[in-house]
Amino acid sequence: MTRRGTPLTILSVVGARPNFMKLAPIARRLAERRDVRHFIVHTGQHYDRELSDVFLEELGLPPPDENLAVGSGSHAQQTAAIMERLEPVCERMRPQIVLVYGDVNSTVAAALVAAKLGIRVGHVEAGLRSGDWSMPEEINRVVTDRLSDLLFTPSRDAGDNLRAEGVPTERIHFVGNVMIDSLVALLPRLRGRNGRGRREDGRRPYVVVTLHRPSNVDDPDTLCGLLQVLAELSDDRQIVFPVHPRTRARLRAIGWQPPGDRMALLEPVPYRDMLRLVMGSDLVITDSGGLQEETTFLGIPCVTVRSTTERPITCTEGTNRLVAPRGDALRRAAREAWGRRRDTPPRIERWDGRAADRIADVLCDGASFR
Ligand code: UD1
Repeated sequence: MTRRGTPLTILSVVGARPNFMKLAPIARRLAERRDVRHFIVHTGQHYDRELSDVFLEELGLPPPDENLAVGSGSHAQQTAAIMERLEPVCERMRPQIVLVYGDVNSTVAAALVAAKLGIRVGHVEAGLRSGDWSMPEEINRVVTDRLSDLLFTPSRDAGDNLRAEGVPTERIHFVGNVMIDSLVALLPRLRGRNGRGRREDGRRPYVVVTLHRPSNVDDPDTLCGLLQVLAELSDDRQIVFPVHPRTRARLRAIGWQPPGDRMALLEPVPYRDMLRLVMGSDLVITDSGGLQEETTFLGIPCVTVRSTTERPITCTEGTNRLVAPRGDALRRAAREAWGRRRDTPPRIERWDGRAADRIADVLCDGASFR
């Protein structure tokens, strides 16, 4: 409740695939509170069913209250379209808090609109830094955090980053990893009898691959070098590769075909199926942020094809290893890593399935988590 006894109005703005698993546990907690009205706005940054609606349905999220349907475009076009269309929604709904998630274009666009209207901004997954200013996500993270009043961090290093940038300590809440909340909620249904996840029917040992960062897929030479190594690795382990639309377009442009059925190219995979695939795999090769965390939580080796990460805890305490986007580096790292699954996964502080509870406590009851 606000001080005047009216319900607190919170508006969550999401738009791209990795936002939805961060929103779901928070939406559930807020739906349980009588003193809160929670609205969801989907910007439409992702619009293909497999990247959007499938996730909302699987996660039990209600249909968004508004869909801004901005679609694809250059960064400026997409950011500007979200801002233009979100402003009147905020003026009409008059939320006290706008919640934004992660580091996509929808995140920074919504934070800018809210901050300029004088609405408090809460950033879920604040404080992550790769130090790589050539990544659009790094720009989004830094700007969003600068605009935020409530900064919900997943790990202690994220809080340290924010304090080093001068963010007052009282704005920072170390709540834990809200994406792991979604994973924890599903785990009982995902685990096979051996507790490690079922291997897909009849599949032999396999490696899951996802690549979609511009730095890996936009330059044909870089992409061809990585594909060459994946083709070589498929002699030893089957490769299962759900392909993001950006990557699909690049593969089409260079006329690439998989070398045989040891390398299976799939359409983007729904959330639960993806977790099942990962849980049954020997190794994940990726450039995704979320998979670095999910593999760490599950104790599955991960090779991240990037020279930096905003999630260093997955390397220092988890199962993640970074490699530059070069064929030789990837080949060596993959061969060293596969089969090294941990029976006891690492335990990371506050990656415990309760991050959304803490966020709701901060939003509704003024709690603080240091
Ligand atoms: C975005 C995020 C990235 C995140 C990724 C997860 C930014 C800057 N990037 O990257 O951090 O890891 O989402 O997927 O916000 N497209 C489709 N269908 C869709 C959406 C996109 O075909 O539903 C194609 C379009 O050709 C589009 C391209 O994918 O131009 C890229 O989409 P965009 O949302 O700009 O960035 P992502 O690469 O998905």
